[in-house]
Amino acid sequence: MYLLILLIILIITIVTLVMMLSIVWGLIVTGGVPFISTNKKDFQAILEAVNLKPSETIYDLGCGKAHLLIYANKHFNSKGIGYELTLWPYLWAKFKIYLTKAKVKVFRTNFFGANLSGADVVFCYLFPEVMAKLEPKFEAELKSGSRVVSYGFRLPNKKVNREVITNDDNVELGKIYVYEY
Ligand SMILES: C[S@@+](CC[C@H](N)C(=O)[O-])C[C@H]1O[C@@H](n2cnc3c(N)ncnc32)[C@H](O)[C@@H]1O
Repeated sequence: MYLLILLIILIITIVTLVMMLSIVWGLIVTGGVPFISTNKKDFQAILEAVNLKPSETIYDLGCGKAHLLIYANKHFNSKGIGYELTLWPYLWAKFKIYLTKAKVKVFRTNFFGANLSGADVVFCYLFPEVMAKLEPKFEAELKSGSRVVSYGFRLPNKKVNREVITNDDNVELGKIYVYEY
């Protein structure tokens, strides 16, 4: 009995350690962008703000657990592509996709190395400095008619086409910015 309790404690400790190490490593490789999930209450507002249509492809740059992409597939019948460098949300995303059979693919790679020309919609919940670095990439790679929707943070130079207030209590993060290309 004691042995079993010890084994359970050991497993919980190892899992917690791996999660913490993966978060610290994730902060190092992403240049300090932490894993924080978008508020689920805002999913519908985000996807309606970009008028996501069935069969369109939505990319989530730094997709975390890919919850938004799975929601979009289930409720809007879109396809999803996600990029995530932090190990544990990436593994969680793979597991959820497997369970839900959602038409979503996630890659454990840096989104700066990804080609965005296949995206109809790009979702970002990142940091202002990262948005500034993404702005020229969007200009260079996004096809005409595509949209970028950013949770909380603007692109520094491009004119916002639409601004939506969400359900989030945090005033700054509670804004969605939509850009058309
Ligand atoms: C604030 S979280 C947002 C998670 C998810 N998009 C959501 O809204 O729930 C930002 C995520 O981006 C990931 N990330 C940051 N920079 C990245 C990069 N260059 N390539 C891939 N993932 C990155 C981080 O690991 C983190 O999980």
